[in-house]
Amino acid sequence: MTTYPMTRLRRTRATAWSRAMHREVLVTPADLIWPLFVTEGDGVEDPILSLPGVSRWSVDGIVARAKEAVALGIPCLALFPNTQPDRRSEDGKEALNPDNLMCRAIKAIKDACGDDIGVLTDVALDPYTSHGQDGLIDEQGYVLNDQTVEMLVGQSLNQAAAGADIIAPSDMMDGRIGAIREALEGAGHINVQIMSYAAKYASAFYGPFRDAVGSRGLLKGNKKTYQMDPGNAEEALREVEMDLAEGADSVMVKPGLPYLDIACRVKETFGVPVFAYQVSGEYAMIEAAVAAGAADRDAMVLETLVSFKRAGCSGVLTYHAAHAARLMSK
Ligand code: PBG
Repeated sequence: MTTYPMTRLRRTRATAWSRAMHREVLVTPADLIWPLFVTEGDGVEDPILSLPGVSRWSVDGIVARAKEAVALGIPCLALFPNTQPDRRSEDGKEALNPDNLMCRAIKAIKDACGDDIGVLTDVALDPYTSHGQDGLIDEQGYVLNDQTVEMLVGQSLNQAAAGADIIAPSDMMDGRIGAIREALEGAGHINVQIMSYAAKYASAFYGPFRDAVGSRGLLKGNKKTYQMDPGNAEEALREVEMDLAEGADSVMVKPGLPYLDIACRVKETFGVPVFAYQVSGEYAMIEAAVAAGAADRDAMVLETLVSFKRAGCSGVLTYHAAHAARLMSK
């Protein structure tokens, strides 16, 4: 006599209503942070060739994107400047200019949208240095930690004064979260959050981003003396622990998909808000697969986004944010 299984896991999968009812995690537009690249000029849309479908926008276009995000239910933007070559220098001091491109974009968004949307700003010197490194370098090209931290503190105060809601240090210097938190408190910015790029890896997935901010051609060498080694997981937990102790409100794991294990372990270990950055190379990989006829964009985008939620993330920075939000509200 044949014995049939009493427990059939396929039973709850048999119909769409039942699958919907049993779904454990959902991704919604409120889970998305939309990274945007700002450029000089007026009425400028400058497509980024290695990020098909993504453009640099002048400040007016950034404001239009911010309004679009509000309408789509996206709660936060992440801003990155493409600094003109003549404003880049060895020490990246344009980062401290209260009238730099970044500050003008922050103010314009806040004037247009107020608290309808959050503005997260990247803290690191690479969009401003003539050598493309995230900090100050010595004669050998080594990125100096403590001197860089002083610059990052100035950059953070500059962005906070312009109206940034979340300061997001992406530089991986030691001790910068504590130094920035102390300076923000001292300046009265008690409700300006810090989302630390706590576990940021020296990754091959950042190439298109470096095109977007114009630092790819400038960068000599690599960032391995400050960004993490892809083989390390325990070290990521130490990074997160330190940044939390120094006052980070939330932490980020970056890149996204190749480091889902890290996001999951960080969430399980610390129980704090964790965000993942699905970086430029991941976006480009999906778009290349779509262009090659090897993938269905919409399905792939939604599947990758839900994977971050399943791993325990509170949200995801993704260049597909607006497209994904449109799909989710269908
Ligand atoms: C700058 C920074 C980088 C990214 C975010 N902030 C590049 C880098 O570290 O070289 C990468 C984001 C992406 O690839 O989408 N410190």
